[in-house]
Amino acid sequence: MCDFAALLLVWSLNSIYWEGESCAGAGKRNRGTAKMAAFTTLDDVDLAGKRVLVRVDINVPIMDGRVSDDTRIRAIVPTVRKIIDAGGIPILIAHFGRPKGQPSPELSLEQLCAPLAQAIGAPLKFSKAVHPSGAYADVAALQPGEVLLLENIRFNPGEEANDPEFAEQLAELGNVFVNDAFSASHRAHASTVGIAKLLPAVAGRQMEAELTALEKALATPQRPVIAVVGGAKVSTKLDLLANLMNKVDQIIIGGGMANTFLAAQGKPVGKSLCEHDLLDTARDIMAKASAAKCELVLPLDVVIAREFAPNAPHETVAADSCPADAMILDAGPASIEDICRRFESARTIVWNGPLGAFELQPFNAATYTAARKAGELAKAGRLMAVAGGGDTVAALNACGAADNFTYVSTAGGAFLEWLEGKTLPGVAALQNR
Ligand code: 3PG
Repeated sequence: MCDFAALLLVWSLNSIYWEGESCAGAGKRNRGTAKMAAFTTLDDVDLAGKRVLVRVDINVPIMDGRVSDDTRIRAIVPTVRKIIDAGGIPILIAHFGRPKGQPSPELSLEQLCAPLAQAIGAPLKFSKAVHPSGAYADVAALQPGEVLLLENIRFNPGEEANDPEFAEQLAELGNVFVNDAFSASHRAHASTVGIAKLLPAVAGRQMEAELTALEKALATPQRPVIAVVGGAKVSTKLDLLANLMNKVDQIIIGGGMANTFLAAQGKPVGKSLCEHDLLDTARDIMAKASAAKCELVLPLDVVIAREFAPNAPHETVAADSCPADAMILDAGPASIEDICRRFESARTIVWNGPLGAFELQPFNAATYTAARKAGELAKAGRLMAVAGGGDTVAALNACGAADNFTYVSTAGGAFLEWLEGKTLPGVAALQNR
């Protein structure tokens, strides 16, 4: 049996541990390093009559007092509804911003009660207590069918310190722990790691969905696998590139970081964003990628302008012809065509980072066109397309491609760490039990 089929079988048994090779190898084969230890889910615990502590990530953007993107709020609804429907009482633990252990009114979670209650469709109460020990009365007063939201857990220094005593006081509020916050699970905090050691701990629906999609995309992918890695700086993506080159067949490099690679090849980049101190590093990455049989794909042509502004006068030049007084702001039409052609023969795409200055018209062309192409192919069932990261998701939403992707992660930093091949402590705490 090929590993992918085996994975599906094992996954359905809800106890996962695999390693090996793909059944759809195309040049590079899956490495024998992908492992996922067993973890339990909401289906494996009796929730009836239980107070269920649920770590959620509702760290959403707020503009002018309103939630400007409620994706993370909508993402936790299946877990909360499942607990209510099974007769449990969900008690939501979440952070908001980075208050660094101090209460701060503008970071109170009270402001999210209304959109949260509306999304869940159940009465939602809020506990104003900063410390969990102050929330006992609110917990005791809860009735079946109700949901309780605790105040920003990061108002307590014990949270980020993963203080064992703080974790114990938190655990005393419930009988079961559910981690539904993949996007906060790169933090070894009391509400992601400490508490998981003290109560029966299971993955929520959102956590399950993230792990399923990301494992399929990188651990046992259908090949060829193409990673799209963009963004401003190579320096923030060194670990990611080092990990991905051993897992994927091609890495399409875009955004400002592509300029550093072009410069490392001796091409002029004018006034472009470029980490000139990292040219040796870029050359080293290119050599290692080549040894790993991973093709690094750089722009063939680029769109240049003399100012960084919307609709700035611009032109397309070959990737080795950026004038000294110009800056590269996007990949050009030949590059876009090349990327789309590569997508046509891919079976898996993993995307993190825009290909150009997508926030400025018309320098969003490469990001939007390539994202739409990936989305169309995914929608047609031709490949699996997975994306994550704040800018990436904003770009996919803006060009209407997000809904067509197979999976769009709600995670920012956690998605990056996953791509870097790191173990996320909050995920490990669910598995190593
Ligand atoms: C995020 O927004 O990526 C998560 O909520 C984690 O937030 P943090 O980076 O402040 O831990």
